[in-house]
Amino acid sequence: MSDKLVKTESEREHSPGEKFYTREVAAQYEALRQNDRYWAWENEIVDHCLRTFQVGDQIADCPVGTGRFMDIYARHGLRVAGIDISRDMLDEASKKVAAAGLTGRVELIQADASGMGLEQALAKALICFRLLHLISDSNLNGVVKGLAAIPSQTIFLQVFNVKDFNPGRVAGRVLHALGSGEIGVVRKLKYVYRTMRALGAALIGPKKAAPANQHKQNTFCDVTYAHPLSRILSTFAQHGFHMKDSFDFRDNAHLMGESGCHISMVLVLQKSSPLDR
Ligand SMILES: C[S@@+](CC[C@H](N)C(=O)[O-])C[C@H]1O[C@@H](n2cnc3c(N)ncnc32)[C@H](O)[C@@H]1O
Repeated sequence: MSDKLVKTESEREHSPGEKFYTREVAAQYEALRQNDRYWAWENEIVDHCLRTFQVGDQIADCPVGTGRFMDIYARHGLRVAGIDISRDMLDEASKKVAAAGLTGRVELIQADASGMGLEQALAKALICFRLLHLISDSNLNGVVKGLAAIPSQTIFLQVFNVKDFNPGRVAGRVLHALGSGEIGVVRKLKYVYRTMRALGAALIGPKKAAPANQHKQNTFCDVTYAHPLSRILSTFAQHGFHMKDSFDFRDNAHLMGESGCHISMVLVLQKSSPLDR
Protein backbone atom coordinates (compact mmCIF):
# COMPACT_ATOMS: atom_id res chain seq x y z
CA MET A 1 0.00 0.00 0.00
CA SER A 2 1.31 3.43 -0.87
CA ASP A 3 1.90 5.66 2.15
CA LYS A 4 0.57 8.56 0.10
CA LEU A 5 -2.89 6.97 0.10
CA VAL A 6 -3.36 7.17 3.84
CA LYS A 7 -3.35 10.41 5.76
CA THR A 8 -1.64 10.28 9.11
CA GLU A 9 -3.86 9.88 12.15
CA SER A 10 -3.24 13.48 13.19
CA GLU A 11 -4.23 14.82 9.74
CA ARG A 12 -7.48 13.01 9.26
CA GLU A 13 -10.87 13.48 10.87
CA HIS A 14 -12.48 10.09 11.44
CA SER A 15 -15.77 9.18 9.81
CA PRO A 16 -17.81 7.59 12.59
CA GLY A 17 -18.99 4.81 10.24
CA GLU A 18 -15.55 3.46 9.48
CA LYS A 19 -14.98 2.10 13.01
CA PHE A 20 -18.12 0.00 12.80
CA TYR A 21 -16.86 -2.47 10.17
CA THR A 22 -14.56 -4.65 12.23
CA ARG A 23 -14.47 -8.24 13.55
CA GLU A 24 -17.94 -9.80 13.85
CA VAL A 25 -19.60 -6.99 11.84
CA ALA A 26 -17.27 -7.86 8.94
CA ALA A 27 -17.79 -11.62 9.43
CA GLN A 28 -21.60 -11.30 9.43
CA TYR A 29 -21.91 -8.34 7.04
CA GLU A 30 -23.36 -10.17 4.03
CA ALA A 31 -25.35 -12.79 5.95
CA LEU A 32 -27.25 -9.99 7.71
CA ARG A 33 -27.92 -7.99 4.55
CA GLN A 34 -28.25 -10.25 1.55
CA ASN A 35 -31.96 -10.93 2.13
CA ASP A 36 -32.93 -7.28 2.45
CA ARG A 37 -35.20 -5.80 -0.17
CA TYR A 38 -32.61 -3.73 -2.01
CA TRP A 39 -29.48 -5.93 -1.87
CA ALA A 40 -30.44 -8.04 -4.91
CA TRP A 41 -31.61 -4.91 -6.77
CA GLU A 42 -28.24 -3.22 -6.23
CA ASN A 43 -26.46 -6.35 -7.55
CA GLU A 44 -28.66 -6.26 -10.67
CA ILE A 45 -27.86 -2.58 -11.24
CA VAL A 46 -24.11 -3.20 -10.98
CA ASP A 47 -24.41 -6.11 -13.42
CA HIS A 48 -26.42 -3.87 -15.78
CA CYS A 49 -23.99 -0.92 -15.48
CA LEU A 50 -20.97 -3.11 -16.24
CA ARG A 51 -22.44 -4.68 -19.39
CA THR A 52 -20.70 -2.21 -21.71
CA PHE A 53 -17.20 -2.93 -20.36
CA GLN A 54 -14.74 -5.23 -22.10
CA VAL A 55 -13.04 -8.31 -20.70
CA GLY A 56 -9.78 -7.15 -19.09
CA ASP A 57 -10.99 -3.61 -18.33
CA GLN A 58 -9.82 -2.19 -15.01
CA ILE A 59 -12.36 -0.80 -12.56
CA ALA A 60 -12.14 0.46 -8.97
CA ASP A 61 -14.53 -0.42 -6.14
CA CYS A 62 -14.42 1.90 -3.12
CA PRO A 63 -15.47 0.88 -0.55
CA VAL A 64 -15.10 -2.74 -1.63
CA GLY A 65 -16.24 -4.00 1.79
CA THR A 66 -16.54 -7.80 1.81
CA GLY A 67 -16.26 -7.90 -1.99
CA ARG A 68 -19.98 -8.45 -2.52
CA PHE A 69 -19.68 -7.80 -6.29
CA MET A 70 -16.77 -10.21 -6.96
CA ASP A 71 -18.93 -12.78 -8.75
CA ILE A 72 -20.28 -10.03 -11.02
CA TYR A 73 -16.76 -8.75 -11.76
CA ALA A 74 -15.66 -12.32 -12.56
CA ARG A 75 -18.62 -12.76 -14.93
CA HIS A 76 -17.61 -9.59 -16.82
CA GLY A 77 -13.91 -10.57 -16.86
CA LEU A 78 -12.85 -7.34 -15.15
CA ARG A 79 -9.70 -6.44 -13.24
CA VAL A 80 -10.43 -4.65 -9.98
CA ALA A 81 -8.77 -2.34 -7.47
CA GLY A 82 -10.80 -2.85 -4.28
CA ILE A 83 -10.25 -0.09 -1.72
CA ASP A 84 -11.53 -0.01 1.87
CA ILE A 85 -10.47 1.48 5.17
CA SER A 86 -11.24 -1.67 7.20
CA ARG A 87 -8.67 -4.46 7.34
CA ASP A 88 -11.33 -6.92 8.56
CA MET A 89 -13.66 -6.16 5.63
CA LEU A 90 -10.72 -6.58 3.22
CA ASP A 91 -9.92 -9.96 4.80
CA GLU A 92 -13.47 -11.06 4.01
CA ALA A 93 -13.08 -9.66 0.47
CA SER A 94 -9.91 -11.66 -0.11
CA LYS A 95 -11.88 -14.89 0.53
CA LYS A 96 -14.39 -13.76 -2.13
CA VAL A 97 -11.58 -13.01 -4.58
CA ALA A 98 -10.25 -16.56 -4.26
CA ALA A 99 -13.75 -18.10 -4.42
CA ALA A 100 -14.59 -16.10 -7.57
CA GLY A 101 -11.34 -17.24 -9.26
CA LEU A 102 -10.11 -13.64 -9.42
CA THR A 103 -6.73 -14.13 -7.75
CA GLY A 104 -4.19 -12.02 -9.64
CA ARG A 105 -6.95 -9.87 -11.21
CA VAL A 106 -7.97 -8.06 -8.01
CA GLU A 107 -5.79 -5.81 -5.87
CA LEU A 108 -7.13 -5.09 -2.38
CA ILE A 109 -5.89 -1.82 -0.90
CA GLN A 110 -6.44 -0.54 2.64
CA ALA A 111 -6.96 3.21 2.37
CA ASP A 112 -9.20 6.09 3.36
CA ALA A 113 -11.43 7.20 0.49
CA SER A 114 -10.62 10.82 1.28
CA GLY A 115 -6.91 10.17 0.71
CA MET A 116 -7.10 8.79 -2.82
CA GLY A 117 -5.04 10.30 -5.59
CA LEU A 118 -3.64 10.07 -9.06
CA GLU A 119 -1.19 7.34 -8.10
CA GLN A 120 -4.13 4.95 -8.41
CA ALA A 121 -4.15 2.82 -11.57
CA LEU A 122 -6.36 4.20 -14.34
CA ALA A 123 -9.86 2.75 -13.97
CA LYS A 124 -12.68 2.70 -16.53
CA ALA A 125 -15.21 3.20 -13.75
CA LEU A 126 -15.56 3.51 -10.01
CA ILE A 127 -18.21 1.54 -8.14
CA CYS A 128 -19.10 3.30 -4.88
CA PHE A 129 -21.93 1.61 -2.99
CA ARG A 130 -23.19 2.21 0.55
CA LEU A 131 -20.58 4.73 1.63
CA LEU A 132 -21.97 8.26 1.73
CA HIS A 133 -24.57 7.57 4.45
CA LEU A 134 -21.61 6.80 6.75
CA ILE A 135 -19.85 10.08 6.02
CA SER A 136 -20.55 13.08 8.22
CA ASP A 137 -21.40 16.50 6.80
CA SER A 138 -17.95 17.82 7.59
CA ASN A 139 -16.20 14.87 5.90
CA LEU A 140 -18.40 14.76 2.79
CA ASN A 141 -16.38 17.14 0.64
CA GLY A 142 -13.08 15.40 1.51
CA VAL A 143 -14.44 11.95 0.69
CA VAL A 144 -16.02 13.12 -2.59
CA LYS A 145 -12.76 14.85 -3.50
CA GLY A 146 -10.91 11.56 -2.86
CA LEU A 147 -13.39 9.51 -4.91
CA ALA A 148 -13.17 12.02 -7.76
CA ALA A 149 -9.37 11.80 -7.67
CA ILE A 150 -9.45 8.09 -8.58
CA PRO A 151 -8.70 8.33 -12.30
CA SER A 152 -11.98 7.17 -13.82
CA GLN A 153 -14.48 8.73 -16.20
CA THR A 154 -17.63 7.27 -14.65
CA ILE A 155 -18.78 6.77 -11.06
CA PHE A 156 -21.67 4.44 -10.25
CA LEU A 157 -22.73 5.88 -6.91
CA GLN A 158 -25.30 4.28 -4.65
CA VAL A 159 -26.98 6.51 -2.06
CA PHE A 160 -29.47 5.81 0.74
CA ASN A 161 -32.25 7.84 2.23
CA VAL A 162 -32.62 10.71 -0.14
CA LYS A 163 -35.52 13.05 -0.62
CA ASP A 164 -35.56 13.69 -4.32
CA PHE A 165 -37.94 16.25 -5.80
CA ASN A 166 -36.41 16.47 -9.25
CA PRO A 167 -39.55 17.04 -11.42
CA GLY A 168 -38.62 14.44 -14.07
CA ARG A 169 -37.86 11.74 -11.53
CA VAL A 170 -40.90 12.48 -9.35
CA ALA A 171 -43.08 12.30 -12.49
CA GLY A 172 -41.39 9.02 -13.48
CA ARG A 173 -42.07 7.47 -10.08
CA VAL A 174 -45.71 8.67 -10.02
CA LEU A 175 -46.28 7.23 -13.51
CA HIS A 176 -44.64 3.99 -12.38
CA ALA A 177 -47.02 3.85 -9.39
CA LEU A 178 -50.09 4.63 -11.52
CA GLY A 179 -49.15 1.91 -14.01
CA SER A 180 -48.21 -0.61 -11.34
CA GLY A 181 -50.19 -3.84 -11.23
CA GLU A 182 -48.96 -4.42 -7.66
CA ILE A 183 -51.27 -1.93 -5.92
CA GLY A 184 -54.96 -1.08 -6.06
CA VAL A 185 -56.64 2.21 -7.03
CA VAL A 186 -57.04 3.42 -3.45
CA ARG A 187 -53.35 2.99 -2.69
CA LYS A 188 -52.42 4.66 -5.99
CA LEU A 189 -54.55 7.68 -5.03
CA LYS A 190 -52.93 7.75 -1.57
CA TYR A 191 -49.50 7.63 -3.19
CA VAL A 192 -50.31 10.58 -5.46
CA TYR A 193 -51.84 12.49 -2.51
CA ARG A 194 -48.78 11.86 -0.28
CA THR A 195 -46.48 12.89 -3.09
CA MET A 196 -48.39 16.17 -3.62
CA ARG A 197 -48.34 16.81 0.13
CA ALA A 198 -44.59 16.16 0.31
CA LEU A 199 -43.96 18.39 -2.70
CA GLY A 200 -46.07 21.16 -1.13
CA ALA A 201 -44.15 20.86 2.14
CA ALA A 202 -40.84 20.99 0.27
CA LEU A 203 -41.89 24.08 -1.70
CA ILE A 204 -43.70 26.13 0.94
CA GLY A 205 -42.91 24.41 4.23
CA PRO A 206 -40.59 25.79 6.90
CA LYS A 207 -37.09 26.25 5.56
CA LYS A 208 -35.36 25.84 8.92
CA ALA A 209 -32.77 23.10 8.60
CA ALA A 210 -32.81 20.20 11.03
CA PRO A 211 -30.14 20.75 13.71
CA ALA A 212 -28.18 17.62 12.81
CA ASN A 213 -28.19 15.69 9.58
CA GLN A 214 -28.52 12.40 11.34
CA HIS A 215 -31.43 10.00 11.32
CA LYS A 216 -32.95 9.18 14.67
CA GLN A 217 -33.94 5.76 13.45
CA ASN A 218 -31.67 3.94 11.13
CA THR A 219 -31.45 0.41 9.96
CA PHE A 220 -27.84 0.23 8.91
CA CYS A 221 -25.47 0.94 11.76
CA ASP A 222 -24.94 3.45 14.51
CA VAL A 223 -24.29 6.28 12.11
CA THR A 224 -26.43 7.22 9.15
CA TYR A 225 -26.30 10.59 7.46
CA ALA A 226 -28.96 11.64 4.98
CA HIS A 227 -27.21 14.05 2.67
CA PRO A 228 -29.77 15.69 0.39
CA LEU A 229 -29.37 14.58 -3.20
CA SER A 230 -28.81 18.20 -4.27
CA ARG A 231 -25.83 18.43 -1.86
CA ILE A 232 -24.34 15.16 -3.12
CA LEU A 233 -24.69 16.29 -6.74
CA SER A 234 -23.28 19.76 -6.13
CA THR A 235 -20.31 18.31 -4.20
CA PHE A 236 -19.47 15.92 -7.06
CA ALA A 237 -19.98 18.77 -9.56
CA GLN A 238 -17.33 20.80 -7.71
CA HIS A 239 -14.95 17.93 -8.49
CA GLY A 240 -15.93 17.63 -12.17
CA PHE A 241 -18.57 14.85 -12.07
CA HIS A 242 -22.13 15.39 -13.31
CA MET A 243 -25.13 13.10 -13.25
CA LYS A 244 -25.97 11.47 -16.58
CA ASP A 245 -28.48 8.87 -15.43
CA SER A 246 -30.02 7.37 -12.33
CA PHE A 247 -31.79 4.21 -11.21
CA ASP A 248 -34.48 4.21 -8.52
CA PHE A 249 -35.45 1.37 -6.30
CA ARG A 250 -39.18 0.87 -6.79
CA ASP A 251 -41.22 -1.86 -5.19
CA ASN A 252 -44.50 -2.45 -3.48
CA ALA A 253 -43.22 -1.34 -0.08
CA HIS A 254 -41.90 1.85 -1.64
CA LEU A 255 -45.34 2.57 -3.09
CA MET A 256 -46.73 2.71 0.47
CA GLY A 257 -44.87 6.00 0.91
CA GLU A 258 -44.52 8.98 -1.39
CA SER A 259 -42.55 9.60 -4.52
CA GLY A 260 -40.06 12.04 -3.01
CA CYS A 261 -38.79 9.48 -0.53
CA HIS A 262 -37.07 6.30 -1.60
CA ILE A 263 -34.53 4.10 -0.01
CA SER A 264 -31.80 3.15 -2.42
CA MET A 265 -30.76 4.93 -5.59
CA VAL A 266 -27.83 4.58 -8.01
CA LEU A 267 -26.49 7.67 -9.76
CA VAL A 268 -24.36 7.49 -12.89
CA LEU A 269 -21.88 10.38 -12.72
CA GLN A 270 -19.59 11.29 -15.58
CA LYS A 271 -16.47 13.39 -15.62
CA SER A 272 -16.79 16.42 -17.83
CA SER A 273 -14.57 19.39 -18.45
CA PRO A 274 -16.12 22.88 -18.17
CA LEU A 275 -16.13 23.03 -22.01
CA ASP A 276 -18.42 19.95 -22.23
CA ARG A 277 -21.10 21.52 -20.02
C1 LIG B 1 -21.84 -0.47 4.28
S1 LIG B 1 -20.22 -1.04 3.84
C2 LIG B 1 -20.35 -1.08 2.05
C3 LIG B 1 -19.45 -2.09 1.41
C4 LIG B 1 -19.81 -2.44 -0.04
N1 LIG B 1 -19.60 -1.32 -0.93
C5 LIG B 1 -21.25 -2.91 -0.11
O1 LIG B 1 -22.02 -2.33 -0.87
O2 LIG B 1 -21.56 -3.87 0.57
C6 LIG B 1 -19.28 0.41 4.12
C7 LIG B 1 -17.83 0.20 3.94
O3 LIG B 1 -17.21 1.50 3.88
C8 LIG B 1 -15.94 1.40 4.50
N2 LIG B 1 -15.54 2.77 4.86
C9 LIG B 1 -16.09 3.61 5.77
N3 LIG B 1 -15.46 4.81 5.76
C10 LIG B 1 -14.50 4.72 4.80
C11 LIG B 1 -13.52 5.61 4.31
N4 LIG B 1 -13.40 6.86 4.81
N5 LIG B 1 -12.70 5.20 3.30
C12 LIG B 1 -12.80 3.94 2.79
N6 LIG B 1 -13.70 3.04 3.23
C13 LIG B 1 -14.55 3.43 4.21
C14 LIG B 1 -16.19 0.48 5.67
O4 LIG B 1 -15.00 -0.09 6.17
C15 LIG B 1 -17.13 -0.55 5.05
O5 LIG B 1 -16.44 -1.65 4.51
